[in-house]
Amino acid sequence: MTNNTRRDFVKQAAWGSAALLALPTARVLGANDRVRVGMIGVGGRGQDLLKQVLAVRNAELVAIADIYTRRHDEAKRMAPGIQTLDDHRRLLGMNDIDAVIVASPLHLHAKHFLDTVAAGKDLYCEKTMTWSIPEAEQCLAASKKSDRIIQIGLQHESSGALADTKKWIHHGMVGKVTQVESWMSRNTPHGKGQWVREVPPDCTQQNVNWDAFLNGRPERKFDPYKFINWRLFWEFSGGNVTENMVHQIAWIMSALDLPLPSAAYMSGGVFSEKDGREVPDTIAVTLDFPETTVTWQSTFSNSRYGLGEHILGSDGTIEHIAGATDMVSGRSEETIRYLPEKLNRPSGATINGETEDQNHMANWIDCVRSRKTPNAPVEIGYRSAVAAHMANMAYREKKRVTLEIAKAASA
Ligand SMILES: NC(=O)c1ccc[n+]([C@@H]2O[C@H](COP(=O)([O-])OP(=O)(O)OC[C@H]3O[C@@H](n4cnc5c(N)ncnc54)[C@H](O)[C@@H]3O)[C@@H](O)[C@H]2O)c1
Repeated sequence: MTNNTRRDFVKQAAWGSAALLALPTARVLGANDRVRVGMIGVGGRGQDLLKQVLAVRNAELVAIADIYTRRHDEAKRMAPGIQTLDDHRRLLGMNDIDAVIVASPLHLHAKHFLDTVAAGKDLYCEKTMTWSIPEAEQCLAASKKSDRIIQIGLQHESSGALADTKKWIHHGMVGKVTQVESWMSRNTPHGKGQWVREVPPDCTQQNVNWDAFLNGRPERKFDPYKFINWRLFWEFSGGNVTENMVHQIAWIMSALDLPLPSAAYMSGGVFSEKDGREVPDTIAVTLDFPETTVTWQSTFSNSRYGLGEHILGSDGTIEHIAGATDMVSGRSEETIRYLPEKLNRPSGATINGETEDQNHMANWIDCVRSRKTPNAPVEIGYRSAVAAHMANMAYREKKRVTLEIAKAASA
């Protein structure tokens, strides 16, 4: 098979599975119409999103699909009236669902993304948008051919801190930005690796559709540890670069309107806990952009400095800091400040950002009704995914990876 035919085949296969079952039947929603939502993958993050969607006015959760029976019970306890299904294609075939939330493990995002769009449903897809660069290209292409509303689960795109940052940059208060520093740090008790989850006793071959989880990876005996702890293994994950850097790099790219990186470098290793994981727990990434260098550092053995970004400009600095380490719960103390560079803005004053965060889920539901572009469209999902995958390629191949190398390797 030539490369082109192989790509076409992969594309058709991904689209075909849902297209056979469901004809796209998008209905036109009025300003007060209820948005009927389905969910694919209702584990840790999926259950957070389930609560979020239940809290949005005029949205209704209709059904969930998950390949682990435990999740059906958990979801039913949270939303008793819903239907629970064991195959996402059945959910996509339901005519009384307008929009679908995907919170499956990373290596399944592209499949669930493409099938959802092919079924004519609007989509909220968790970050990182895809597990690989070719999948990111496929999802971008599919979204361009479609009129579906797609939000990526990069919730910091809806933050007040980003709105303040864009405003200060737009008003020329920051000047020429040559460097951005960013970091994210966490800690765990001695002997306990970050992210490691206990395998529940009911996580058995009878209760899990292991083949659906593998999604084309080499067949093997059911491995409950990998099923629950997929984040630790390259086959299913991109490690902390796709778990957390992607949030911050998307935020930086949006703030500065950066294109794809021209090159990536990444060093680090498994230094914190040698618990069999493959993905590094200690990381230093450098991304090259035209006349701006962006760095991101991360450790799982010290949480002192939490997470943050410093945007360093000739006329001012933007300092965004979240004291605690949890990007998900939102419990952290967060500050966003502008500080003038007196050399070039002698009369400039320090300003504290005060713009409120928007609700990322409510923004998506609103856009499903209004057909406006949501705060984190596919285009930022694509740029941040490619940047993350370039960094991981640099780490795994122990070399500088240019955009040309990354795209050629992915063709
Ligand atoms: N935006 C954020 O802040 C944020 C935070 C945490 C996680 N996430 C993302 O959410 C996603 C899920 O992470 P998690 O921690 O909830 O993982 P998880 O393992 O807890 O949940 C994944 C769920 O998907 C189900 N699943 C697996 N294969 C499936 C298939 N073929 N069809 C349907 N369901 C399937 C599993 O049974 C499980 O219930 C990841 O991509 C992660 O990066 C985002």
